[in-house]
Amino acid sequence: MPNDASALLVISEDTIDKARDWIEHAIAEQELEGFSIWPVIRKDTGTLIGRCGLHRTENGDIEVAWVLARDQCGQGFATEAARAAIDYGLRVMKLNQLCALILPLNSASVAVANRCEMRFDRVVRAYKRDMLKYTIGH
Ligand SMILES: CC(C)(COP(=O)(O)OP(=O)(O)OC[C@H]1O[C@@H](n2cnc3c(N)ncnc32)[C@H](O)[C@@H]1OP(=O)(O)O)[C@@H](O)C(=O)NCCC(=O)NCCS
Repeated sequence: MPNDASALLVISEDTIDKARDWIEHAIAEQELEGFSIWPVIRKDTGTLIGRCGLHRTENGDIEVAWVLARDQCGQGFATEAARAAIDYGLRVMKLNQLCALILPLNSASVAVANRCEMRFDRVVRAYKRDMLKYTIGH
């Protein structure tokens, strides 16, 4: 459990309790599904810089998701992490298809999806928002 402020910010929770709940949810999903949203850690520094991985959405799709600390953007880490998560989902877990749900104005995430060779599918309603659905697999 990271206990410094920047690490908590990275996992997008603003209190220790919310961060603990989030981590416990990820551990439960890992045990149930064999995948979850994992920490992204820089190999050269050992620093926690974001999170990326797989999780099951309300309608049963498996989503690949990513987020980076702001000061770690622009170096290719999100794409590297997303490619690893996609490889794990398709090749190791043998899932047929993965999706990414992206807010229309989130051009940085659309670029990550494109670099991962995900294809735009359609606009869907998810997380109470209209989202762009990208997919990979068949
Ligand atoms: C989405 C998000 C992770 C994208 O971050 P990002 O830094 O743009 O993406 P990457 O880490 O893959 O980095 C790609 C950039 O690094 C550059 N880069 C620099 N060195 C690189 C290297 N060695 N290898 C690859 N890319 C490199 C690329 O050219 C690219 O730059 P560009 O955007 O100017 O073309 C980040 O904006 C974020 O965390 N946003 C908030 C959370 C969010 O939106 N999550 C997704 C919800 S669907």
